[in-house]
Formats: sequence, C-alpha cells, structure tokens
Amino acid sequence: MTDAATEARALLRGLTDAEPFGGWSAPGRVNLIGEHTDYNDGFVLPFAIDHRTHVALGIRQDAVIRVTSTFAADAVEVPIAELPSLFPSEGRVPEWAAYPLGVAWALVAASVVDPSELSGLDLAIASDVPIGAGLSSSAAIEGATATALNDAWQLGLDRVALARIGRTAENDAVGAPTGIMDQMAAMLGRADAGIFLDCRSLEATVVDLGFAAAGLEVLVIDTGVKHSHATGGYRDRRESCELGARLMGVMALRDVSVEDLPRAAEIMDDVTFRRVRHIVTENQRVLDTVHTLRTEGAGAIGELLLASHASMRDDFEISVPELDTAVDSAMTAGAVGARMTGGGFGGAAIALVDHDRVATTMDAVAAAFEASRFSAPTMFTVTPSEGARRDA
Ligand code: GLA
Repeated sequence: MTDAATEARALLRGLTDAEPFGGWSAPGRVNLIGEHTDYNDGFVLPFAIDHRTHVALGIRQDAVIRVTSTFAADAVEVPIAELPSLFPSEGRVPEWAAYPLGVAWALVAASVVDPSELSGLDLAIASDVPIGAGLSSSAAIEGATATALNDAWQLGLDRVALARIGRTAENDAVGAPTGIMDQMAAMLGRADAGIFLDCRSLEATVVDLGFAAAGLEVLVIDTGVKHSHATGGYRDRRESCELGARLMGVMALRDVSVEDLPRAAEIMDDVTFRRVRHIVTENQRVLDTVHTLRTEGAGAIGELLLASHASMRDDFEISVPELDTAVDSAMTAGAVGARMTGGGFGGAAIALVDHDRVATTMDAVAAAFEASRFSAPTMFTVTPSEGARRDA
C-alpha cells in the first residue's frame, strides 16, 4: 500500500475508531498534447500518472457526510439533506472540501440519487499528487471521491458519467470553468497508454505510448509557480475562444480547420485571432501526434511537442518564463521534445528524455533555473498508469 493510502486509512481510523469500509484512488495526469482544446470540443491526449489521491471511506449510522484530509486540520460535516443547496457555497465550506463535497452535491444535483435514501459516510483523503503543479490534483480528488461514492451508495454509474460528475463539481462547486480532460484521464487512464479523447463525443481511444520500449522517460519539471484556474487567465482564454467561435459562426473552435485560418485573420482582432490559431493548430497537432505514435513511435513526436509549446507561449500566451526555461534547457540537454503541460500560468513542463540522459537533463535544468535566479524546480519521472479504482 502506498504512503497516501496508508495515511488515508490512518486518518479515517483516527476519526471513527473503526476500520474503513474500503479504499479507492484516482491518479493525477500529464497532458502529452492538446492544451485548452477540451472546452473547445476538440482533441486531447493525456495520460494518468503514478501519483494518486486516496480516499478511505467509513459508513455512518446517521445521515451526515463528513470529510477530512491531510490538506487541513479540521473535518467538515454536512447533513446529507443539506447537500442539494450546498453550492454555490459562498464560503460555507473551505476550498479543499469543495472538491469531495462538490462531487457528492453533483451526484444529488444530477438527480442520480434521492438524498433521503443515502447512508451517512466518513471520507478521509490523502494524496501524493503535487498540488498546484498542473498535474490535476483536483481531478484526482474528484475521481477518487466519485468512485468511492458510486460504490458505497451503489449508484451503478459508468466511468464517463463519473468524469462528468467530477467536472460539474469542478465547474459549479469549486468555480473553475475547466473542460473535461482531467476527469476523463483520471477515470480512464491505462498503464503505458494515453487516452485520445474527442471532447465533443467523449469517445476515448487508448493509444499505446511505448515510452519504455523506445527507451524514453517523461520528466516532469514542476516550476513551483502556483496557478489557479478559478480566476484570471484561464477564464479569459476561454472567453476569447468563445468569441472566436461566434465570429466564425460555429458552435465551437473544433469546427474551424487550419484552412479556415486566413478568413479568421480577416474578421477578428489580432489577439482573438492568435487565441483561435492556437486552438486550431493544437487540435491538428493532437491528431498528428496520435498518427506519429502509431506509425513511427514516441521518439518521433518531439517536434510536435515543441510546436505546441511555442503556440502556447506566443499565440495563447499562457506560458511563464520558468516554463520556457524548463523547455529550452531540457532541449539543450538533448531531450526529444518538451512542452508546458496543463492550463498554464505556472505549474509544470514535461520533457521526453532518453532513459540514460534523465540525470544530466535534470542537472542542466536545475543549472538554468539557478542562472535565471528562479526558485529550484522539483523534478521527477512519471509512468502512464491506471485510472480510478477500488484498492481495498
Ligand atoms: C486545466 C483544465 C482542463 C484543460 C487544461 C488545459 O487542466 O482543468 O480542462 O482545459 O487546463 O488544456
């Protein structure tokens, strides 16, 4: 059992004096390519990572749901009868608790369950997904909680339905206007594989990544620059995309192709055009990456990763100097490809690196950060892993 799983069980035992009814977990994710395309009905290619959030769950005799976690000292209690009106919470629950309680609320709000029929529960949460690193620690909490509640309350929902519940919690309880990529990755992840997702149809295809066979590792470079998608830049980018789609007369930017870009340039202002160009070219890069992985293997996707980074830096303008330094220094050290991953404005970059060069790449990146007087980044390799599951 991993440390976070042990921690979650210990936390629950401390709270209830009883053995947990069960333990569930869900992973964080790295997005290999396809950034900000999810809420434009486009394509993404994330994979679940070997860092997970664990939920230990106990059944209560009353109709109360209580959550506790290693993120904060105090447990938060809500009568199940009050769940339907819990969000928007106007600060009634602390931010961390909005994730698990948001999932419970979303299950009730989706009318999947009648609150009066539900047993009370204790949930204890511990995680080894770094928080604020752009590795989707939030979707890991949502995925682990949704899977646990689905089993404990015997709701019978499938994985895509649980991913949707997670996104509702994120959008309407936490208040971050994100797409569905992270929740789908947390629910559907597979060992050694990426999830090629059409965010319009939610059709998911498992794509063999073959990193190990190609002698490659994915190095995560967490810049330590914190970001939040509930405020600021993320929302602003989303609005630009919606404006771009309206101007092009389409439902979503998914419906604009690379060939349509000259017309887009004529009818919109420069900033909106560059936001649109990022989405349109990024969708194409996801399709090209899937094709390249299938035909030539992981060693051949480097140019696509770099083009994606350049597009986020120059057109979508969501990179920060630390992320650019991470990408540039990893490439100078001989990486096959590198890009920032996740929503941007901070968080992590990934570099695809030959197994034998991981240590020298880490040294080179650390040296470049020091030379730029940035705080030292945290670096580790990740392995494509399984999605949400019951562990105990
Ligand atoms: C965050 C969001 C996702 C997605 C990415 C950018 O991770 O949660 O829905 O929009 O940013 O690709």
